[in-house]
Amino acid sequence: MDSPPDVLARIDRLRRERNAVILAHYYQEPDIQDLADHVGDSLQLAQAARRSDAEVIVFCGVHFMAETAAILCPERIVLLPDLAAGCSLADACPAPALAAWKAAHPHHAVVSYINCTAAVKALSDIVCTSSNAVRVVESLPPDRPVLFLPDRHLGRWVAERTGRPLDLWPGTCIVHEAFSEPALLDLVARHPDAKVLAHPECTASILARADHVGSTSSLLAYALRSDASTFVVATEPGILHPMRRAAPDKTFLPLPGVGADRAFNVCPHMRLITPEKTLRSLETLEFRIEVPEAVRTAALVPLERMLALQ
Ligand code: 13P
Ligand code: SF4
Repeated sequence: MDSPPDVLARIDRLRRERNAVILAHYYQEPDIQDLADHVGDSLQLAQAARRSDAEVIVFCGVHFMAETAAILCPERIVLLPDLAAGCSLADACPAPALAAWKAAHPHHAVVSYINCTAAVKALSDIVCTSSNAVRVVESLPPDRPVLFLPDRHLGRWVAERTGRPLDLWPGTCIVHEAFSEPALLDLVARHPDAKVLAHPECTASILARADHVGSTSSLLAYALRSDASTFVVATEPGILHPMRRAAPDKTFLPLPGVGADRAFNVCPHMRLITPEKTLRSLETLEFRIEVPEAVRTAALVPLERMLALQ
């Protein structure tokens, strides 16, 4: 849906006046991606936040992403246009539960997927994203046992790729665990030359049929460099916008979810952000994301360890 031109014009004016940068994840609505200064995956957006010299960072994404920017950039004003934009994975592992798991496994290293709260990061040895999870686990001493949280599907995929027996927290993404295997078989039968692209948060049965598994930016890069002309995409369909824009001659088919209506699985949290709420954020400087200093400094250590591996 196109945004009213006056909303975009007011966003542009305020972005300049406030010295603000607008960051958007690939799962945002197309109109948000189009108005953003940077669009990317979780790692790219964390790096963009850290690199930016803007005074205000408006994060068009979900809470843990804005919180990560606040951890990395304490001197900036970090804004999330809708505070209800959460994440089922971050909700799956509260910090007290991780503290108890750690206490029961005192010799394990704790690897936390970036989709978690600042308090959970603060209890972790190293953070990872979907684009570097394999490298992060491989960076740990080979004989050190590992607790991996909160996504069990990503964790299982990393365990297979690294050959390391990770202990997995049982969290899942409400979007990626609900893709339909029968719908995938159906699409592949109708498009036998199509390549299947899947995010590692998908279930094992979807990943087993994928030609390429990776982060959102990795799926985009694969689609652009591949000789194939048709792709079945098993991740949140916001990613189809940059795919179609960068490769208008190729065909991108979103994988439907389970359920009688075979609806496409949009992330209900990501899709809460609108141009109007983004404008309101710039006008009012709400909703500001701040992390208590003791938690922030503790969470910064595992985030910096991850960033140093890039
Ligand atoms: P990426 O880091 O691959 O963009 O993934 C973010 C996310 O929330 C996946 O559901
Ligand atoms: Fe969280 Fe899943 Fe939404 Fe990503 S798609 S933000 S993992 S609920």
